[in-house]
Amino acid sequence: MRIGIATGGGDCPGLNAVIRGAVLHGGETYGLSFAGFLGGWRGVALGDVTEVTREDVRGISKLGGTILGTSRTNPWEFGGEDAVRNSMREHEIDAILAIGGDGTLAVAQRLHDAGIRVIGVPKTVDNDLNATDMTFGFDTAVSIATEAMDRLRTTGDSHGRCMVAEVMGRHAGWIALHSGMAAGAHAILIPERRTSTETIVDWVESARDRGRAPLVVVAEGFVLEGDETAHSTKGNDAFGRPRLGGIGERVAAVIAEHTNIETRASLLGHIQRGGVPTAFDRVLATRFGMEAVNLAVGGNWGRMVSLRGTDVVDVPLTDALNSSKVVSEARYVEASRLFG
Ligand code: F6P
Repeated sequence: MRIGIATGGGDCPGLNAVIRGAVLHGGETYGLSFAGFLGGWRGVALGDVTEVTREDVRGISKLGGTILGTSRTNPWEFGGEDAVRNSMREHEIDAILAIGGDGTLAVAQRLHDAGIRVIGVPKTVDNDLNATDMTFGFDTAVSIATEAMDRLRTTGDSHGRCMVAEVMGRHAGWIALHSGMAAGAHAILIPERRTSTETIVDWVESARDRGRAPLVVVAEGFVLEGDETAHSTKGNDAFGRPRLGGIGERVAAVIAEHTNIETRASLLGHIQRGGVPTAFDRVLATRFGMEAVNLAVGGNWGRMVSLRGTDVVDVPLTDALNSSKVVSEARYVEASRLFG
């Protein structure tokens, strides 16, 4: 069997470890060969394909990004399942291993429904897929964000300023919650919980009154009480979802206005998705790549790998599409006991 690997949607640290795990295990254990579709679903639909051999994946676990490139592309803009079938036929590819988040996995499911052999590997730094306990990339993003906040705290302390750190998290505040807790933030603002200006100001002033330089962490998808939707000034992505970013500046302005504390905002943005994956993410990604190959060999089309506890299992692709994993009330309340 020859498997074509595609990485779709936003990149994240660990994608290359999946590719390496799949290619090494598939080649050595089952004698499979591999191709790579370049640039996500666009490469699948247009037949933009390269060979991926054992030599090509040598030493890539520690590399951020994806050696195959990625894009937020809807393959139905390039001919849909007919184009995908043609490209697979032309390059003698029997099955697709699709690595991506909800957008990519929704495409994978649609292709599976059309009779194309697909296996999924879930990925997102946001960690918001219910179908798996964790996605690789999240641990790295949290580590990067935590280190950034540690740095913000020393400059904040020096100036007696309030520092606002904006992190990723479109619908789910997992990166904000974990990095904020790790860095000892005085307030964590997440998409799941609208929070009023008054409450934020209370937390900030309480920290200031104890002689601390307040640190506020805000997820990009946070909605300030009174606002209608998440802050977005950059239009929509290819799937029609608003591109977020900038709420940190807005929250900083609100804090400065209501407290008279000099306040600065930093937007971490794509720094959270770049660079070397943590050991945890490399291990998870490698195991996902290996298990995805097992699924293909077993003919388990339309399924994706998943972490349950410490076990790598498999679930239907549809599980990734039905609901998101958001921060529960209990987890938020637990963290909020330390705010202010
Ligand atoms: O879905 C992962 C994510 O990093 C989100 O947190 C963020 O909103 C989005 O991707 C950014 O997308 P792009 O890389 O296309 O700007």
